Amino acid sequence: MLKSADAIKRLRALNGGAPGLAYVRSFGCQLNVSDGEKIKGVLREIGYGLTEDENEADLIILNTCAVRESAEDRVFGIVGSMKKLKERKPSLIIGIAGCMTAQSHIAEKIRKSYPQVDLVVGTSAIRSLPGLLLEHMEGAALAEDISEYDDFSEAVPQIRESSFKASVPIMFGCNNFCTYCIVPYVRGRERSRRPEDIISEVEELVKKGYKEIMLLGQNVNSYGNDLEGEITFPELLRKLNALEGDFIIRFMSSHPKDASDELIDAIFSCEKVAKHLHLPVQSGSSEILRRMNRRYTAEKYLGIVRKIRERDPDFSLTTDLIVGFPDETNEDYQATLDIIREVKYDNIYSFIYSKRSGTKAAEMPDSTTDEEKSCRMRELLEVQREISSEHYKRFIGRTMRVLVDGPAKKKEGWLTGKSSEFIIVEFPGDASLIGQFVNVRITGAMNWAVTGEPVTKGD
Ligand code: SAM
Ligand code: SF4
Ligand code: F3S
Repeated sequence: MLKSADAIKRLRALNGGAPGLAYVRSFGCQLNVSDGEKIKGVLREIGYGLTEDENEADLIILNTCAVRESAEDRVFGIVGSMKKLKERKPSLIIGIAGCMTAQSHIAEKIRKSYPQVDLVVGTSAIRSLPGLLLEHMEGAALAEDISEYDDFSEAVPQIRESSFKASVPIMFGCNNFCTYCIVPYVRGRERSRRPEDIISEVEELVKKGYKEIMLLGQNVNSYGNDLEGEITFPELLRKLNALEGDFIIRFMSSHPKDASDELIDAIFSCEKVAKHLHLPVQSGSSEILRRMNRRYTAEKYLGIVRKIRERDPDFSLTTDLIVGFPDETNEDYQATLDIIREVKYDNIYSFIYSKRSGTKAAEMPDSTTDEEKSCRMRELLEVQREISSEHYKRFIGRTMRVLVDGPAKKKEGWLTGKSSEFIIVEFPGDASLIGQFVNVRITGAMNWAVTGEPVTKGD
């Protein structure tokens, strides 16, 4: 395939530099959303304008997720409905990017059953997009690049969705092979970005006025393992913390098996690092954790929580949970309820287990019915609601520093933002504060947010 720069030149010559409007929609995790921003960046280089309305688009890219079956079904539903759009506008180009493209049976299904799809852009092939577009415009019915590239991330232009919150992937792929998870199969092995590239990107973002930097990786704690001892994740945190500027550093996800004392020390000693840790537990049952290949027990996990809470009893924790892993017994499930009651998470992201073909768990027998799984999920959410509404009361009377996201929904004249603890804070305020840090005195707590009054100088 032609080099990206050459392909861009030829594309510009073909369409006079004005190829029309592109609609890019990303599904799945924040790493995928960050890839979507890069897809937009590459499209802008070609000359595309961006639209939020697929009906007026000349090019549609669906940046897909494969983590659960429901995510895939949604994309197939959308691609199916796009057949009509294409009938109305035959010049419309439709592309599929992201994690679904890395599964051979899915790529085959797209080829066979969805002739309206013109481009398939693999998870590390964003830079091939100009070449693929050119190939299609020069006659290929389906232009496809699903090769794995190692150096795919640097120097790719990016159109960021926010002007004050930025995601910065620090590594790609995953080596952990949790038995339920498709990610290692669709995103390949762990590759860490060079620390100097990350540091200069963050420096640049802070200079541009970004106030929140979210470091991303499937397991940020193993950042640097492939860089021959050059740097660890806590060391990276300390280097970023030392940069000049008023900004907050967040990161996700952390794998409990690698949540070291060094990491905990870095969180507490770096003033720019958020006072919040997302530490996915997945299950409270050590037997299920063993079958998930998580490589920690419930006791070991609770030991990490204890270390954190010894330093700050109110420290904010959030987690991911899977309900209904193959053959999860009622006892296993009760252990999950026990752990959420004991840890008192500020928020949980819970999912019903979804069978992913090609993973080890897909071969495991499963006698738990769908009805039981749904019932467990409903109860789990109810228990968490009770925990949050009680636990959020600890913030009443405190002043929290909030990065303002935008207007609050359904509350005229109110704003919403997030505190360092990753708690949603709503308060009355003017839209000019969006993108700024504001100190808010907390006066009320709900089960999903707290409310308060901005603190003005002299208060
Ligand atoms: N790397 C992160 C970690 O280990 O915490 C998680 C990444 S994964 C994209 C996000 C969450 O999706 C996981 O923590 C897990 O709870 C959930 N997940 C992954 N595979 C799943 C599956 N087959 N069924 C249901 N939930 C799943
Ligand atoms: Fe999936 Fe486990 Fe890797 Fe997270 S650590 S991406 S859950 S395999
Ligand atoms: Fe989904 Fe791929 Fe992320 S499978 S969760 S978009 S890494």
